[in-house]
Amino acid sequence: MTDINNKTAVITGGGTGIGRGLALALAREGTTVAIADIMIANAQQVADEINGSGGRALALHCDVCDRASIRAMKQAVNTELGEVQLLFANAGATSFDPLVEMTDDDVDWIVQVNLMGVMNTIRAFLPDMIAAGIGHITATASMAGLLPGWVPQHVVYSAAKMGIIGLMMNRAMEINAHGIHTTTYCPGGVKSGMKERNGLYRPPQFGGPQPQAAVQVPEKSFKDNPLKFYTPEGVAPMVLAAVRNNRPFVFDHAEQRQAFRDTYSSVIEACFDDIERYEQEQGRPPLAED
Ligand SMILES: NC(=O)c1ccc[n+]([C@@H]2O[C@H](COP(=O)([O-])OP(=O)(O)OC[C@H]3O[C@@H](n4cnc5c(N)ncnc54)[C@H](O)[C@@H]3O)[C@@H](O)[C@H]2O)c1
Repeated sequence: MTDINNKTAVITGGGTGIGRGLALALAREGTTVAIADIMIANAQQVADEINGSGGRALALHCDVCDRASIRAMKQAVNTELGEVQLLFANAGATSFDPLVEMTDDDVDWIVQVNLMGVMNTIRAFLPDMIAAGIGHITATASMAGLLPGWVPQHVVYSAAKMGIIGLMMNRAMEINAHGIHTTTYCPGGVKSGMKERNGLYRPPQFGGPQPQAAVQVPEKSFKDNPLKFYTPEGVAPMVLAAVRNNRPFVFDHAEQRQAFRDTYSSVIEACFDDIERYEQEQGRPPLAED
């Protein structure tokens, strides 16, 4: 069990959407929250809302693509609020574009914010957690990472989100022994403002904000699985329950089980059928000598 009451938490991307929902839910548990976001005005609004209703929150500017910015944010959190026990590496941005139409900046941004952003954030906070022997890290990935064949034109995003899943599963082996637990959250449809605001999140090193860049979700997406949307306020308690119980994963849409089963059973059957057939026809490759 991870005790989430009266702790100190950092939430990246806490200014809106899922991160905001988590910040408000944590504050209701008596947890002090640092809301770190590239959109500082949004982070400040959430902090004001929490402070105005008797909680304690701090808003900080942070670009998770920029390690120096994360280090500065961590320094400020430690100075103002002390040690951090709960980390939510949640900031992200999306893209629904054919790979060949994406610019180098588009690709770099989506990989940096989604995958490296989580990696950078964890690397900044983990050493203190290991030293203290206490902590819980939650990373927001996506069902698009688990089901990369589900949504078209989502190549770079799906790859980055699948990368988060790999990093969290592997890192869990490394850090559970230190008393630190991990949860990977794979949202499967939560109503946030990402579609409208996404272009505003682009940091200067990738071309800066592009307010006109509307996200167009391809029409045939989710044709066979019409997507239902929960609210950030609705999913936050699910995520916190998983953190409390040290559950390695949270999927918020129970009806996505079949899509998950279909995806992985077809991968398993295709891969193993092929290798078994090859071995029957050609024999096994010789083993390497030491
Ligand atoms: N909403 C969904 O259905 C859904 C589905 C799958 C995954 N996700 C993931 O959930 C997370 C939260 O997204 P959301 O849906 O709440 O959208 P959102 O747009 O409301 O929230 C994203 C937050 O991240 C912040 N952010 C973006 N780039 C940043 C950067 N470089 N540094 C710091 N902060 C940055 C934004 O300012 C914003 O507050 C993201 O990682 C997203 O990929 C969401």
